[in-house]
Amino acid sequence: MLEIENVSAGYGRDDTSVIEGVTMRVAAGEIVGLVGESGCGKSTLARVVTGLLRPSAGTVRVAGVDVHTLRGRALRAHRRQVQMVFQDPYLTLSPRQTVRQSIAEPLSIHRVGDARFRAARVSELLDLVGLDPQVRDRRPGRLSGGQQQRVAIARALALEPRLLVCDEPVTALDVSVQAKVLNLLCDLRDRLEFGCLFIAHDLAVVSQLADRIAVMRRGRIVEQGPTAEVTTGPRHPYTRLLLSATPTI
Ligand SMILES: Nc1ncnc2c1ncn2[C@@H]1O[C@H](COP(=O)(O)OP(=O)(O)OP(=O)(O)O)[C@@H](O)[C@H]1O
Ligand SMILES: [Mg+2]
Repeated sequence: MLEIENVSAGYGRDDTSVIEGVTMRVAAGEIVGLVGESGCGKSTLARVVTGLLRPSAGTVRVAGVDVHTLRGRALRAHRRQVQMVFQDPYLTLSPRQTVRQSIAEPLSIHRVGDARFRAARVSELLDLVGLDPQVRDRRPGRLSGGQQQRVAIARALALEPRLLVCDEPVTALDVSVQAKVLNLLCDLRDRLEFGCLFIAHDLAVVSQLADRIAVMRRGRIVEQGPTAEVTTGPRHPYTRLLLSATPTI
C-alpha cells in the first residue's frame, strides 16, 4: 500500500535533511505506528507521504505509484486515496461549517454524487464514527474535542481512502476520550481495510493500536518491527529509553 524507500527531506535551500534514509512500509489494512520525540521529523515524513513536501532523495509509492511524479488528474486521484487526520480537529474543521458541510466537502470538491447521494453518505459516515445524527447541523464550537475528532475522521474517510495518515490524532484529547478514538480507528480499519500510518510521540498510545512500530530519532528510523517485539524486546537504546518513560506498557 505505502512504500517509503530511502527518503530524505528537509526545508529551504540549504539542503540540511530533517529526515534521512527513511525506509518503511504499510500494507493494506495494517496500522503502522511512528514514534519519536518532538522535532525528530515525524510530521515532515507525513508531509512527504501526502505529497505536500518533495523528498530530496528516495521514493514514496502508494499502491505502486510514485507520488512525487504525479501531475494534474493523476495527482488529484492520488489525493483522494491518501487522507490525513491532524492533532487539532478544531483547526481542521472550519468554525463556520456545520458537521454536515464539513463531511460532505471532500465529496463536492471531487464531484462525487449528487446532493442526495452526499446527504446519504454523510448519515452513513456519522453512523460509522459513532456520532448521533442530530449533531449534523452543529458547528464545531458546539462539539466536544472527541466529537470534533470523530467528525475529522468521518471527513477523512468520506472518499474511501486507501491510506490514512494520522498525525498525533489523540494528543489533544483527554485520556479517556483518547482510548475511545483509538478503538474507533482500530474498528474502522477492520471494517474498511485502509492502511494507516499513525504518528505519536507516546509509545504507550501507539502500542495500543499499531500492528508494527517504527521508532524515529533525529530524522532516522532506529528500529522497527511487530509491536510486541518492539515493546517487549527493544533492540535500540533509544527505544528502551522511550519504554522506560511509558510505565503503562
Ligand atoms: N515548515 C518548516 N520550515 C522549516 N523547518 C521546519 C518546518 N517544519 C518543521 N521544521 C523543522 O523540522 C524538524 C522536524 O519537525 P517535525 O515537525 O517533522 O517534527 P515532529 O517529529 O513532527 O515533532 P512534533 O512531535 O513536535 O510534532 C524540526 O527541527 C523543525 O524545526
Ligand atoms: Mg509533528
